[in-house]
Amino acid sequence: MTKARHVAIIMDGNGRWAKKRHLPRAVGHQRGVEAVREVVRAARSMGLEALTLYAFSTENWRRSEDEVSTLMGLLKRYIQSDLEEFIANNVRLRVIGEYRALAGDIVELLDDALARTAHNHGTTLAVALNYGAQDEIARAAARAAAQGAVTVESIEAELDTAGMPPLDLLIRTSGEVRLSNFLLWQAAYAEMMFVDTLWPDFTPAHLEAALEEFAKRERRYGGR
Ligand code: IPE
Ligand code: IPE
Ligand code: MG
Repeated sequence: MTKARHVAIIMDGNGRWAKKRHLPRAVGHQRGVEAVREVVRAARSMGLEALTLYAFSTENWRRSEDEVSTLMGLLKRYIQSDLEEFIANNVRLRVIGEYRALAGDIVELLDDALARTAHNHGTTLAVALNYGAQDEIARAAARAAAQGAVTVESIEAELDTAGMPPLDLLIRTSGEVRLSNFLLWQAAYAEMMFVDTLWPDFTPAHLEAALEEFAKRERRYGGR
């Protein structure tokens, strides 16, 4: 029985959650943030070392201007409203992806939140923003090459997740069975779980169930 140290989630299905209820997609995203808040609290109280959440991909810019601005507004409000809670609970915020390409006010808000939680040593909450794994690997390889030999280790040391525990478990909600350019490198030996639950319906109980199932899996890493 092993305990997961690092869990990542592809939070998918907000749009379908809203559609089922004849509500605007924005309402699905709002409810998605509420699920994030509860799952982050649960990860912290369960003592998970790291939780990485896919919030906005490099491909999500293809959505309507209206939807992109809804998502950015929700991100901003979430960080503003929960930052004090992160600080009080020893949560260290991290961002993976090229977040500096986001709007200036969001970059400022994130930089402030990163600085104010940098010394926390409880759960690391890594939010993937303007994140694409192919982009991450290309950037890491370029930095590795600039410093010397390009090896598995030198690339790994330059990934956005450098220093985080190895990825143990990758969960995707909403029934889609694909990675959508998320953590391609880190997923090499991660356990995967694809659940039908739509993200706004995902609760701490779902996370607990996933961690229980993870503990039963036998990981072999190619050996016997
Ligand atoms: C996930 O929900 C949220 C983000 C991608 C930011 P979707 O918006 O992808 O929901 P579906 O897949 O359309 O149901
Ligand atoms: C992946 O979901 C991105 C996030 C959850 C942020 P998408 O809904 O964008 O992925 P596809 O389009 O179904 O592959
Ligand atoms: Mg989707």
